[in-house]
Amino acid sequence: MITFEGAAKLYPDGTVAVDHLDMTVETGQTTVFVGPSGSGKTTSLRMINRMVEPTGGAVLIDGEDVRQRDPAVLRRSIGYVIQQAGLFPHRTVRDNIATVPLLLGWRRARARARAEELMELVGLEPSQARRYPHQLSGGQQQRVGVARALAADPPILLMDEPFSAVDPVVRASLQDELLRLQRELHKTIVFVTHDIDEAVRLGDRIAVFRPGGTLAQYDSPERLLAEPSDSFVESFVGYDRGVRRLSFFPASGLSPRQDVVFDEGTSAGAAADALGGEPWALVVTGDRMPLGWASATRLAGADTPLGALELVPYGHTFAVDTDSLRAALDAAVLSPAGRAVGVDADGRVVGVVSQDDLGTALWSVTE
Ligand SMILES: Nc1ncnc2c1ncn2[C@@H]1O[C@H](COP(=O)(O)OP(=O)(O)OP(=O)(O)O)[C@@H](O)[C@H]1O
Ligand SMILES: [Mg+2]
Repeated sequence: MITFEGAAKLYPDGTVAVDHLDMTVETGQTTVFVGPSGSGKTTSLRMINRMVEPTGGAVLIDGEDVRQRDPAVLRRSIGYVIQQAGLFPHRTVRDNIATVPLLLGWRRARARARAEELMELVGLEPSQARRYPHQLSGGQQQRVGVARALAADPPILLMDEPFSAVDPVVRASLQDELLRLQRELHKTIVFVTHDIDEAVRLGDRIAVFRPGGTLAQYDSPERLLAEPSDSFVESFVGYDRGVRRLSFFPASGLSPRQDVVFDEGTSAGAAADALGGEPWALVVTGDRMPLGWASATRLAGADTPLGALELVPYGHTFAVDTDSLRAALDAAVLSPAGRAVGVDADGRVVGVVSQDDLGTALWSVTE
């Protein structure tokens, strides 16, 4: 457990970087610091490993003031990852990762073996061990940075905008990796970001910092999105927080319709009759894989099987058992038919959900 007790940082030029911070970071959880530029996130983070000394109050780790600890020893027990990875340019990937174990006096062979184990853990190829940082992509460098921070198996990991410099696709995969690692390792992670989506995705708890270095709200992601404490937090989490919040509700609560789903062998006329007033039929194969949408206006009176018609693409599907309402809504909004196709784990169609059905479901869960 990391405790900030009235922690403050006043720089000699009069800047109040952090103003009387009181908060507790729980052991084994991911706590995310978000907030606008200059709101004291990095300063607060660095108070934990004594890269910044508070000018007021204290920071405690498991009840002990960090000032009681030798800074060098303390830092070796706390992993630290920054933007652009901060790797040593003239050391190979393997030696970068082995840095702290070597400082701790491990034998070279053991440190290298540990480095190789960590490369696998963070998804790097063994063949990259002898490369230098400039021979890696930005995303790979970040992975090396994470591996290096984990090398001595520290209980605490501090991460300051570690994924900010990579493109959105790589960033999403790094986030996935971190979530997977954390399920395995249960570190106490403090993660700084500007990105509220990243915060909601990674955080067990989120601390929103306000300009002037004070805490505006400290809550679970669900509560932060449901009940921002004031207009500053509300604008920071974004006015689309309603949609974001839907990622916490499972799509399994929906009842997808099956009466608008037809086998490709069905005749168009029969489908038109069965549709009643419904505007779209979803056409599927014999084993219920989706093929596309047929508009009701094109079906009436036709004899051809549905599979012979030119169909409108069904768009992307959502997994009924595992996806969230946000995924279902996204699929419906992007679908040319305004309807989302729900599938099972094998990609077979379970049923169809219209935007209206979704609207009703959203009301009931977010009330
Ligand atoms: N060494 C320093 N001397 C004077 N002021 C400083 C120093 N380091 C940081 N500051 C100021 O302290 C405030 C908080 O800085 P900090 O780096 O903690 O913000 P941040 O929330 O991490 O911002 P960003 O999102 O831009 O990284 C800023 O106003 C910054 O200019
Ligand atoms: Mg910062």
